[in-house]
Amino acid sequence: MTGGSPHGDPEPPDPGVLARIWRSVFRSTLEPETERERKRVVLDHLVLHVRPVRLPAATLRFTHTWGLGGMSLVLFVLLLLTGVLLMFVYEPLPGRAHESIVRLQTEVRFGQFVRNIHHWSANLLIFVAVLHLLRVYFTGAFHGARQFNWVIGLLLLVIILGAGFTGYLLPWDQLSYWAVTISTAMIAYVPGIGGWLQRGLRGGEAIGGATLLNFYTLHTTLIPATFLLLMAFHFWRVRKAGGVVLPHGVEEEPEERPATVLYFPNLLLREFVAGLILVALVLACSVALDARLGDPANQGMSPNPAKAPWYFMGFQELLLHFHPLFAVVIGPALAAWGLLFIPYLRYEPEQAGAWFLSSRGRRSSALAAVLALGVTPIWIVLDEFVMNPEARLAGLPPVISNGLLPFAILLAALWGLYAGLRRRGRASRGEAVQALFVFLFVGFVLLTAVGVWFRGPGMALTWPWKV
Ligand code: HEM
Repeated sequence: MTGGSPHGDPEPPDPGVLARIWRSVFRSTLEPETERERKRVVLDHLVLHVRPVRLPAATLRFTHTWGLGGMSLVLFVLLLLTGVLLMFVYEPLPGRAHESIVRLQTEVRFGQFVRNIHHWSANLLIFVAVLHLLRVYFTGAFHGARQFNWVIGLLLLVIILGAGFTGYLLPWDQLSYWAVTISTAMIAYVPGIGGWLQRGLRGGEAIGGATLLNFYTLHTTLIPATFLLLMAFHFWRVRKAGGVVLPHGVEEEPEERPATVLYFPNLLLREFVAGLILVALVLACSVALDARLGDPANQGMSPNPAKAPWYFMGFQELLLHFHPLFAVVIGPALAAWGLLFIPYLRYEPEQAGAWFLSSRGRRSSALAAVLALGVTPIWIVLDEFVMNPEARLAGLPPVISNGLLPFAILLAALWGLYAGLRRRGRASRGEAVQALFVFLFVGFVLLTAVGVWFRGPGMALTWPWKV
């Protein structure tokens, strides 16, 4: 039977799907007669529905997005693949969990390697997702049609942290047992429902078999399933917003419409290469550095110091300086609200597409970063060795002397910075809010670094190297 197009033209012989894909990937020049064919290849493949057929050429530049969203996806796929393999060996029982990991590492071929890939992908994912959030924020890619996608992104970040945290307990070694003990102890400070929340998560009063089963179930079913759903929604929203934000100035080009190129192969090839480099990096880390496994959990003996996972160390460090109600409830709740409402503040003008919004935005952010780099360590050292608000203001309850008062001072300082940038620096609202964000972010990173590297026995300040 001979085929024909609806217009009566004879249809060229079908070269086969593989040949079509091959040609579409490796032929980059646009010829009108092949464009229709390429579109068909794209439309034929469900997976490619998350990407448009054409996209603005200006968004191809790697430094516009750094490919960080795509990298998060690659890391998630690595986690999924290795996680399924780990489930064949791992046993979620207090008496068996640690032993099953030892068996995985010593008796199962490539067991240690698979565990290492899972470990490095998980840690990198937290890092890369935070970088992606920063990229989105600093290019102002959260206005208009992108507003709600920012919220979905935040949910994804919470899910990633939850995945890391629930996975942390599973090896059931001293470090993981006590890290989870400390982190879940922080939950008890939530007024009213803290104790209930803590017992729910632990499955009882103390960390034990019920906690391990809770964490295992969350880690292997609910969290990945929610992540998949949210991620699909996130990608769909990117498409609905017309792709990633356009670099600043592109709309003002002479033709008024940005020049476009085909997704296939222009972006696909770039994504593929970036993905391969990332996988190579994870594999290299997994060959060179083994995921740690300490002694089996001992419920009667806590290590000194006992620390939370690195991504919660900023909060543990805050706990050393502020009353718990402010360190782990009011502070994080305000930060979460602040992040959530970033896209919904009224910005005049809505600057988007340029890194740090403008040269003034860049200067304001640099100033805020330098301030945070100077003020945070000074404040940590002063609070540790000189100030002692609880002793100095002995007549006041600690929640005021060590909570409300220092917190009010911090808020006043932030307000001062904002007002100064607006009035004297003539920053727009977006630029001034951005500088506050930078100040708080750099401060939190420093708190995390101090907690991870500069805290020794008894959580006293110490040098990470021998002096
Ligand atoms: C594992 C988690 C995440 C994955 C897999 C992911 C994936 C992606 C991808 C592939 C894109 C388009 C390309 C790119 O910008 O690199 C994107 C864009 C976007 N993401 Fe995410 N993302 C994640 C987390 C987040 C987080 C934590 C936020 C912020 C709170 C966020 C907010 C956004 C927004 C607003 C856009 C649109 C940006 C624009 O139009 O330029 N995402 N995401």
